[in-house]
Amino acid sequence: MKIIVLAGGLSPERDVSLISGAGICRTLRERGHQAFLLDVFFGLPYDPDRLEEVFSLPDSGLSIAEGIKTTTPDLAALKAARPDQSDCYLGPNVIELCRMADITFMALHGSVGENGKLQATFDILGIKYTGPNSLGCSLSMNKLVAKQVFKMSRVPTPRGTSLTAATKDTPLSELGYYLPLVIKPCSGGSSIGVYIVHTEEEYTEAIRRSFEEDQQDEVVIEPYLKGREYACGLIAGKALPLVEIIPKDGIFNYENKYQTGGATELCPPQSLDIKTQKKMQRAAEKAFAALRMDVYSRADFIVDESDGKFYCLEMNGLPGMTPASLLPKAAEAIGIEYGDLCEIIIDQSFK
Ligand code: DAL
Ligand code: MG
Repeated sequence: MKIIVLAGGLSPERDVSLISGAGICRTLRERGHQAFLLDVFFGLPYDPDRLEEVFSLPDSGLSIAEGIKTTTPDLAALKAARPDQSDCYLGPNVIELCRMADITFMALHGSVGENGKLQATFDILGIKYTGPNSLGCSLSMNKLVAKQVFKMSRVPTPRGTSLTAATKDTPLSELGYYLPLVIKPCSGGSSIGVYIVHTEEEYTEAIRRSFEEDQQDEVVIEPYLKGREYACGLIAGKALPLVEIIPKDGIFNYENKYQTGGATELCPPQSLDIKTQKKMQRAAEKAFAALRMDVYSRADFIVDESDGKFYCLEMNGLPGMTPASLLPKAAEAIGIEYGDLCEIIIDQSFK
């Protein structure tokens, strides 16, 4: 098959996406496909074996030897680096190239690539792509909307609210939420821009940073739950085995997500009895259906140590496909190698 692997883009998760894309492109080539890695924003083809050349873009903050560093890309610098200075998310010829392929593999994470807009554009243009449809992507990308859908579908999820630029100055005392709290971008990923706040001062500073420095237009506020985290990959609506995440220093942040040795992942989990694992998997399947997802995705859970109950934190429409990522680990645990997983995703996307 002729396959365009679409990666990069103008998202804080650009570097993660490039690593996902390179892995997917390499494995598809090994399996005899004609696969091409294409940067959706610059419209440039990349050699998946020479990504270091791509990461020399301004402040991409990534070194192939060390894995992804703690810094995320400077999106303004990337924008300025595009020769045509266009504001269009799609680089030159991207549509034409995707049209020529049998299918476009969405290796994108964050923003337009994962929030359903690109999926909707491709639907209108008749371009075949992998992964969830536009509605599933848009519902799951907005963490507050996803939370409301979980609640209606009786998928346990933490309480939560959101603030926008218009309501960001609401005093903490009027929110009806008590410290400690988690403040996170409503449509973010990879733990970028997540703040855990224990005091009112920390709360005020996190809100200021979210809207001013991180340029968020909506942030979600939730009670901070302390406990173990689990991920449930899903293929065609069916749960894979759970993966338990044990981050190096207790927090599963951007650094620990992608640095080699940043976290230990156990599949199957050691700390949950089989009955609870099954319940969590059923909740993930319910969440998948409720959000109108299809093909594949990954639901993330936490078990609150204060009440011992599990809560669904979010659904990831285009979960990471890097070597450190959780969905490939879960698939591997049941004998589905990385390359097989990519082929299954393609087959499911044609259904
Ligand atoms: N947003 C990252 C890529 C994930 O969910 O795996
Ligand atoms: Mg996520």
